[in-house]
Amino acid sequence: MKKIIANELREKYLEFFASKNHKIIPSSSIIPENDPTVLFTTAGMHPLVPYLLGEAHPAGKRLCDYQKCIRTSDIDEVGDNSHLTFFEMLGNWSLGDYFKEDAIKYSYEFLTSEKYLGIDIDRLYFTVFKGDEDFPKDTESYNIWKSLGVEDDHLFYLPRENNFWILGSGIGPCGPDTEMFYDTGKPKCSDDCNPACDCGKYLEIWNDVFMEYYKDENGNLSKLKQQNVDTGMGLERTITVLNGYESVYDSTLFKGVKEKLEELANMKYEDNKKSFRIIMDHIRTSTFILGDDHGITPSNIGAGYVLRRLIRRSIRHLRKLNIESFVLNDLANIYIEEYKSVYEELIRNKEFIFTEMEKEYNKFVKTIKDGERLFYRVIKHLDKDTISGSDAFKLFDTFGFPIEMTEELAKENNLKVDIEGFNQCFKEHQEKSRTIDAGSFKGGLADTSIESTKYHTLAHLLLATLQEIYGKDIIQKGCNITHERIRFDFNLDHKLSDEEKVKIENRVNEMIKTNTPVIWKEMSYEDAKKSGAHGTFDSKYKDLVKVYTIGNLSKEICGGPHVENTGVLGHFKIVKEESSGAGVRRIKGILE
Ligand code: SER
Repeated sequence: MKKIIANELREKYLEFFASKNHKIIPSSSIIPENDPTVLFTTAGMHPLVPYLLGEAHPAGKRLCDYQKCIRTSDIDEVGDNSHLTFFEMLGNWSLGDYFKEDAIKYSYEFLTSEKYLGIDIDRLYFTVFKGDEDFPKDTESYNIWKSLGVEDDHLFYLPRENNFWILGSGIGPCGPDTEMFYDTGKPKCSDDCNPACDCGKYLEIWNDVFMEYYKDENGNLSKLKQQNVDTGMGLERTITVLNGYESVYDSTLFKGVKEKLEELANMKYEDNKKSFRIIMDHIRTSTFILGDDHGITPSNIGAGYVLRRLIRRSIRHLRKLNIESFVLNDLANIYIEEYKSVYEELIRNKEFIFTEMEKEYNKFVKTIKDGERLFYRVIKHLDKDTISGSDAFKLFDTFGFPIEMTEELAKENNLKVDIEGFNQCFKEHQEKSRTIDAGSFKGGLADTSIESTKYHTLAHLLLATLQEIYGKDIIQKGCNITHERIRFDFNLDHKLSDEEKVKIENRVNEMIKTNTPVIWKEMSYEDAKKSGAHGTFDSKYKDLVKVYTIGNLSKEICGGPHVENTGVLGHFKIVKEESSGAGVRRIKGILE
């Protein structure tokens, strides 16, 4: 088989399916539009779920696409030969149009035809669903492969764990699949060696899912309105397999960044694979997250937190390669150039990518510097060769200093770190903050006198104001109320300037002056979420909840009590603003 690079594979795939009357649709966002249960688009079919369920797609019933995906569950595995946090999925789709026969014929033609991949049929193996108590054996697919000339010894029936596809959440459209494998030519590991074996002889390159079922959150199965085909070919993986690469990082997609790193570090990739791979992977993923039109920025929650972790981990590994200067944008730019013809948004958002990379770098460098200073203060008073778990935890919790950095510095100073003790502190802290949550669930109210009730309503206006100013990512991290003040914690990455404080005060006071009635309604938690209500401590709420609405200013799931009208609150003033842990700010405010 001839060598093929990623861009060619993407192009050929789309060209082939376009020739079979499929409309090419561009990748959807990396942030799912309709699924609040996950942070990122994790599969090619993710954005197409409504259409698989029967909604009409504007481009028709035959589609083909390439989709940006992110999976971070295996982030700690990145550095080995195969794991990536970002990947592209190629797919062709029949939304109630063709089914098994055409899907399999198309797959066969694309894989074997000289015009496309031209893979020798002897190198290909196929698996089909064996059947179980819920779904019948897929003899139809088996026979279609056979009709194309595939021999029995290249065809395997396998059980549900191998040949059935559903999203990671276990909910949604699903169905049996047929999978295609490439024989690497390695010897069989045993007489029973087959495509289900993970010895590395057979590697999967494509998956045709026959989606005609739906699984709901209670595990109930039903038939979908229509029979769909959802196929998925992982771009990086397929390139690696077909070219016989040792790892996904041998693809030309990574060549530019790999060479730049070798130049900057004056070290060879071959001698530092793990750090190189982590940097190559994480910077690519970060570039795509920042380059998406959603404007996600590094933060301490949700997608922003993943982004922060990716960037900071890259910086740590750059430091391991002795690269301490700011090079993130040089690396990001190489990816932008590599991908810009396919993902135009990277050009549109280039300045945003660069600005945010730099901001995060500066923040992290400051964290590292402060942490290092504190680290040396801690070890000055050490009377043994081990840094205690509680000291390591303090560096982490109060100053955001990563435990790995404490370990690194300790090593440089011939010291050890009590990691078990650190983990223990971490666990205790988590348990403690859960208690805090339960307290806050009650509203953080020390008493329900009219004065403290006013502060409780103020908390809603304050959260609404902060979300207006800093975005919907802002959440209430804690709230403590007495009859004379509020202490309100929320996630924000910087200290408030005087102007910002005034802006917040003014907006809250404006809201107060609208004299808006505060009303509440009881509803199911589901309906509350659907209505757009914020629930700060989501997982604590069950069944029926109260939703407090203040005109169009605020809507929150909350136990109450509240004042009847914002007008009674008086005048709000911030008396103090300070840090309350890494990435968390605390406002102390009064009503006058
Ligand atoms: N949904 C299947 C997968 O992701 C096929 O696209 O593998």
